[in-house]
Formats: sequence, C-alpha cells, structure tokens
Amino acid sequence: SATTKQQRKGAGEMKSAVAPSAQQRIDTNPPRGTRDFLPDDKRLQTWLFNEFTAVSKSFGFEQIDFPVLESEELFVRKAGEEITEQLYNFEDKGGRRVSLRPELTPSLARLALQKGKGLALPAKWFAIGQCWRYERATRGRRREHYQWNMDIIGVGGVEAEAEVLAAITQFFAGVGLTSADVGIKVSSRKVLQQVLEQVGVPEETFGPVCIMVDKVDKLPREKVVEGLTALGLSEEVAERILSALAVREVGELEGLLGADNEAVKDLKRLFGLAEAYGYADYLVFDASVVRGLAYYTGVVFEGFDREGNLRAICGGGRYDKLLGTFGGENQPCVGFGFGDAVIVELLSDKGLLPAIPHAVDDMVVALDAELHDVACRAAAKLRQQGREVDLVLESGKKMKWVFKQAERCGATRVVLVGKDEWERGMVRVKNQETREEQDVAIDDL
Ligand code: HAM
Repeated sequence: SATTKQQRKGAGEMKSAVAPSAQQRIDTNPPRGTRDFLPDDKRLQTWLFNEFTAVSKSFGFEQIDFPVLESEELFVRKAGEEITEQLYNFEDKGGRRVSLRPELTPSLARLALQKGKGLALPAKWFAIGQCWRYERATRGRRREHYQWNMDIIGVGGVEAEAEVLAAITQFFAGVGLTSADVGIKVSSRKVLQQVLEQVGVPEETFGPVCIMVDKVDKLPREKVVEGLTALGLSEEVAERILSALAVREVGELEGLLGADNEAVKDLKRLFGLAEAYGYADYLVFDASVVRGLAYYTGVVFEGFDREGNLRAICGGGRYDKLLGTFGGENQPCVGFGFGDAVIVELLSDKGLLPAIPHAVDDMVVALDAELHDVACRAAAKLRQQGREVDLVLESGKKMKWVFKQAERCGATRVVLVGKDEWERGMVRVKNQETREEQDVAIDDL
C-alpha cells in the first residue's frame, strides 16, 4: 500500500541517522556487565535466595524492600567514595534527579527516618534486592548484582554485630563453607577515630580519611599518605594511622591504645560473644579493614576466601550516624551486604553448587488429538491438588517423543490419555521411577 511505501521510504532516509533497517539483527547480549537468567541460572538463584531467606528468618528478621529507583540525593556523599562515582543516575521526564540504587542501606535509612518514632525498636530487617554500580566488570563484580542485607536498627552494643556475624557464618556453614574455606576480617573504625581525636582532626574529616585509608591495598603507600595530607593531616599522623593498621592481634592493639579504649573493649567483647555462639573460628582480627563506605562508625567486617582468589564475599559494619546525615535523629544501626556473584564463584570453585534440575510431578499427554480435552481435565484435577503438571500441548506425538519429553521435564509420573483406556473412563499412569503402569479413573487421580 501507499502508506507502507511511504513508511519504507521514510525509514530509508533515516537509516544512517536513527533507525536500523528492519533486517539488521539487534545485539542479543544483555548490556555490558549485566546478566540474563536462563532457567538453570534462575533455579540456582532461587536456591541461593532461599538460603539467604531461611537464615534471616531463623534469626527472626522480617523482610522489607524498596524501589530500585531512588532520589539521587540519597546516594550523593562527598567523601570520595567509589560508589558515588559509579551511580546510574539521570534526570527523569519530570526533571527529577534519580538513580538506580547502588546499595540498599540509604533506602533503609530513609525508611527508618520516614517511620520516625512510629518504628518499634529494635527493628531487625532483611532484604534481597538488585543493585546497580557502573563498575569495571571483573570476576564476581558486575554492573548489577543482587545483595542480601541484614540490618538491626536500635541496638548500640556489639551484641548486634555478634548477631549479624552469626547469621553470615550460619549461612557459610549451611552451604558447606567451613572456617578453613572462608573467614571474616573484623576491625573497628574507632581505632582510627582514637588516633584522629588525639591529634584534633575535625569529625567531618573522619569519613574521607577512612575512604583514603581503605585504598591502602590498591595504591602505593606514599599515594595514601599524600591523600591523607591533602585532607589536612600531617605526614606524621598519616604514618601513625598506617602503622596502627598493621596490627593483627587484639592484644597488640590493647598495648597500643590501652585497655580502656572503646575499640579494644568492643572487639574483645565481640570475639568473646563469637566464642559463645561457636563461630569464633571464622573471625580474624585485622586492623587494616576499614571499608570503603563513608558512613561506618564502629565495628567493620569483610568476608573473604582463605585462598585469596576472589574479592570480598560480603561486608558490613556499624553506622550510627547515617540517619543524622539525612537530617534525622541518629539511631544505632548495624548490618551487612552479601552479594550473589562472588559466593557463586566460590561455591563453584569448591564444587559446592547444588545440582538443581528442572522437575515436575506429572506430565500429562493426550495420545490422540481428540482427547486433548480429557488431558486438560486430568491436568486441572492434578493441579488443584497442588501437583506441578506439565501438560503436553501438541498432539499426535510418537511414544518415543513422549518419554523423551517426560525425561526433559523431570516428571515423576506420566499420565497417558489413550483411546482404549478412555473408553472405560480411565487414564494410564506410569511411574517413571519404578516403570509400573496403572489404569486410574480420572476422578481418582
Ligand atoms: P559493599 O561492601 O559496597 O557494602 O557491598 C557489599 C557486598 O555486595 C560486597 O561484599 C559484594 O559481595 C557485593 N557487591 C558490591 N558491589 C558489587 C558488584 N559490583 N558486583 C557484585 N557484587 C557486588 C554495601 O553495599 C553496604 N551497603 C552493606 C551494608 C548493609 N552495610 C550495612 N548494611
């Protein structure tokens, strides 16, 4: 028709500028750094999320969620963190600055603020959600990942840290990772705080100093010292901070800071509680753990694989002042984020990923096109009873195909609707495991 011709002509003219020609195949890969989940991947993800959920519930945590898209201001912090440079942010059609969330914690703080005094404390919440960071994709690091979070709002003592660490180690043990496979490095930012207070560094410099110190593994030492002096610290203070971070024993830290120091007291109590719970084997004190997010104020921790092949498995800590930075009243908060990517790499390396094949209870098939109605009736009956049923939608298939299909969908039983049986109001039920066959009245299925 004329219109089509015109459209074609128009499209042709635009070709080089905008629209690809109709025949041109699109790039079928998902955007760089993101993943598709085919059925096998999705089953594995469901298994993993079920493990996360089961652990959270066994600790009495309630599940929450927030939008993936948030107001940009929630994530903009001026401490020089990597995460704020990696935002998927843009202006929406209403001119509002928004961002895909790079993490869940700011949303949790927003919700706690919104509830205000109406929030019953302590609140113990868990969430599993997709996060977006414009990162350079490496093994276990992507531009989107799912994060399991457990957070406690309203408990100021390290009993809260001990509880969330217990959850992480319970998860590890549950999936077969022993303390010989993985560990959790623990420290406290109060170590740094003490050093900074002694030399009169202003409070607002604390976050940026922590971010700089966190780079000690990635940058040459002199670069870190340079960064610290740029924040107003003297070279001597910078060196003092860096040597305090070399400590690997709580006892040594006590010698350095004194037994009355808060970090020392917190860590001793925390390690004591870990003994009581029975997961102390997983914990390692390591003063160099500072973490790269500005809002942590006390204990910080990071899960790692003992072979050292992968990046952090999980990370978290205490953040008692985050609500205040959003203009609200501060609340003591503790929690962690646990990604879905590194753990799968690790479980795969260790041969600990479960095999989860596709499986249904029954496959129902009409051996004759006219009997498809009966097959539908049989399938509906079985589904009403809560069975998972794959109904074959094509007719006239050969028996060889039928049994191959039954294997493919992992059916434990095959319900065959054939002429001879149906004349007697029966269908044939074949048990795939025992190979036994039995004719059953459709109402008795
Ligand atoms: P985070 O250390 O930035 O902390 O991330 C926590 C975990 O999320 C990481 O240890 C890793 O497992 C996973 N993760 C982060 N970025 C990526 C990525 N690009 N690809 C794959 N996995 C990734 C936080 O996000 C804090 N909000 C955690 C927290 C909750 N602290 C207190 N409550």
